[in-house]
Order: sequence, then structure tokens, then C-alpha cells
Amino acid sequence: MFITFEGLDFCGKSTQVELLEKYLLDKGENVKIIREPGGTIISEKIRDVLLDKKNTEMLIETELILFAASRAQLVGEIILPALSQNVFVLSDRFHDSSVAYQSFGRGINLEFVDELQKFVIGKAVPDLTFFIDITIDEMLKRKNSFKQVQLDRIERSKIDFYEKVREGYLYLSDRETRFKKIDASLSIEEIHNIIVTEVEKNSGREWNK
Ligand code: TYD
Repeated sequence: MFITFEGLDFCGKSTQVELLEKYLLDKGENVKIIREPGGTIISEKIRDVLLDKKNTEMLIETELILFAASRAQLVGEIILPALSQNVFVLSDRFHDSSVAYQSFGRGINLEFVDELQKFVIGKAVPDLTFFIDITIDEMLKRKNSFKQVQLDRIERSKIDFYEKVREGYLYLSDRETRFKKIDASLSIEEIHNIIVTEVEKNSGREWNK
């Protein structure tokens, strides 16, 4: 089963990926965690270029294609082989991030970004996507309390960019039935419980019986 986690920076998705991993391992399942961009030797090199604060002159077209290149490698090298062995693959971001950030956020044509994603992911369509929805205000509050943490190139961008990215996620949430929108202001435990319930329902497993 392929499960992706999406949302604005600081929405709490990485915590939820870890909690679900722990839960599934406890139930004796095989789990593979993926971080986007990255996850293979080639993809990690692309990640370094994408997130390097010195690369201020990067074009939005370059950015879109580098994310796509990193993802293509990850799909072929890691995701499809894992899925074929019945592993639970959990990805912290996937192709929906490109629709939200590169199309809605940066303004690249939606149809083109969608087509590119289809080409890149092929059969690796997520079964479930948890969209942890945080408001911009709440995101900024969390960001400021993390001040000591170095913000990456993309995280430094402006607030109206994040508004547009959120709109992108809300659009996908209406369009895609695999999307499960969760309010980021719920507690970590409440969000985890919602996630586990959905995963159990969709995987056909009955861990709690
Ligand atoms: P990362 O450090 O992984 O942040 P996070 O913990 O929020 O996932 O950095 C990834 C950044 O790249 C993040 O700001 C979102 C952005 N991004 C895109 O713009 N497009 C994409 O396709 C992906 C996967 C990420």
C-alpha cells in the first residue's frame, strides 16, 4: 500500500509519518519510508541542488523538472519494487507537492504539471494521501518558534506564495478521492488516530480485532 503525506511546511506531517511507521512495525508489517525530494543517491544529489540557499537564480521551470527527475528515480528504484513486495510505502510529500507548490504556488500551467506527474509516477499512484491542512497564520506561528532552525530556500519565500500553495491542496482535496483532509490544529494523537483508522479501512487489514 502506498500512502503519501502532504501539506504546507510545518503542518506536522513528518511527525505523523514516524508515528504511522511505528504503528505498522508494531503490527508486524514491512514499512519503507521515503522523503521527497530525495531517497536515492541520485535523488539526494538533486535535493541538494534544489534546497541550496545559494541557488537564488533557479528558474521555476528548472525547479519543476528537478523535482520531477528526483521523483522519477525514486519511483523506479524504490517505490515500485517495494510495492510489488507488499510493503507499506510512506512518503513525506510526493507528486501532489508539485501541483501545489510549482503549479498553484509558482504559477506553472496546471495541465502541464499534471501530465508531467503522470509521466513520472506511472503506476505509482498513492492509495491514500493525508493532507494535513494548516492555516497560514498557524504555520507562521510554528515557523517563528523554530527560528533557530535554518529555513531552506523555498521556506524563505513570501506568504502569498503559501496562500496559493494551500489553495492548490484544497483544490486537489476536492478533485482526488484518495485525499483525506485533516485539520492540523488537532492534537498529534487525534491526527494519528484518524490516520490509523483510514489506513486500516483502506488496507483491508484488521489489526485491532
Ligand atoms: P523539506 O526540507 O523536505 O521540507 P518539509 O519538511 O516541509 O517537507 O523541503 C521540501 C521543500 O520543497 C518544501 O518547502 C516543499 C518543496 N517542494 C516543492 O516545492 N515541490 C515538490 O514537488 C516537493 C516534493 C517539495
